[in-house]
Amino acid sequence: MKTFVYTEYGPPDVLQLKEVEKPTFKENEVLVEVCAASINAYDWHLLSADIFLVRLMGGGLLKPKNTKLGADIAGRVEAVGRNVKQFRPGDEVFGDISASGNGGFGEYVSVFERLLVLKPANLSFEEAAAVPIAALTALQGLRNQGKIQPGQKVLIDGASGGVGTFAVQIAKAFGAEVTAVCSTGKLDLARSIGADQVIDYTKEDFTKNGQQYDLILAVNGYHPISAYKRALTTKGIYVMAGGSLVQISQAMLLGPLMSETGGKKMVNVSAKVNQKDLEFIKDLLETGKVVPVIDKRYPFSEVPEAFRYFGEGHARGKVVITVGHNSKT
Ligand SMILES: NC(=O)c1ccc[n+]([C@@H]2O[C@H](COP(=O)([O-])OP(=O)(O)OC[C@H]3O[C@@H](n4cnc5c(N)ncnc54)[C@H](OP(=O)(O)O)[C@@H]3O)[C@@H](O)[C@H]2O)c1
Repeated sequence: MKTFVYTEYGPPDVLQLKEVEKPTFKENEVLVEVCAASINAYDWHLLSADIFLVRLMGGGLLKPKNTKLGADIAGRVEAVGRNVKQFRPGDEVFGDISASGNGGFGEYVSVFERLLVLKPANLSFEEAAAVPIAALTALQGLRNQGKIQPGQKVLIDGASGGVGTFAVQIAKAFGAEVTAVCSTGKLDLARSIGADQVIDYTKEDFTKNGQQYDLILAVNGYHPISAYKRALTTKGIYVMAGGSLVQISQAMLLGPLMSETGGKKMVNVSAKVNQKDLEFIKDLLETGKVVPVIDKRYPFSEVPEAFRYFGEGHARGKVVITVGHNSKT
């Protein structure tokens, strides 16, 4: 089978297409023919090691230990291990397979059964592959950390990329009044996925306009943590999902201290693979409350090109790869 591998950290050019053995699978694993995959910041960080912590936290100090990328997949079950209970050959599935060692930018993967969920019938493989990490981050950030409630005023900072487009829709599905922060060219996109208000970050700084929010999910925001705090209501919660290293360090180091005084909470979210949460998202997809926003679809041979585009940091929703020849478009 064909798969993309990387044996050194670097730009997308280091990705190489190789012919390798089809993976074997154990009793509790499922062999999946990958039909589509999507790119996440997770893949980008593993590829480029732009965050030095990647090297220290098991990625490999000088070169990658695991040569495979690709966590988000959708595909068709080809075979199952003898202890697999939930799936049969032919089932269409999707999931975040990072806990099975990645491999989504390849034709087949062996995956723990617990990482997969049946694909919603109303979604193409590409749409389903766009979902797992981004939607789980949005859900866990808003619900688990942000304690979202109907009627709350919720602001999504960085509403137009992978995580942001799911966050706007999931917050709406919880009955919140949503303000989306994005750049001029993406305001229409934010409105089209349900945002009640939009703020153009190139023209207005929402932390300085006097408005306050019950919940702020910072997906790609670049304000200091003190500015986010100012924009919260008295019992408001700020959840940091992404941004620069400054945002991450502030949320992790200062967040707990700042949460001790007054009623405001400053926390961060680190998305966890979770079959129950993916089932929850599947329901939202089946009822049409959440619709994956796909910016670009690339053929399998153009995985490096897709990474280059993703790395520019301005995607409108998700960047997906069509892997298998069976993929519906
Ligand atoms: N905590 C977790 O578990 C977790 C999980 C997944 C991802 N993340 C993090 O979440 C972040 C977003 O991930 P993603 O997959 O959504 O990335 P993405 O799809 O690449 O995000 C691109 C979007 O970010 C917007 N953006 C860039 N700068 C912005 C700014 N200053 N203000 C508002 N929007 C801005 C861009 O809009 P414009 O082109 O209009 O600027 C673009 O639409 C990354 O930092 C990633 O590492 C965290």
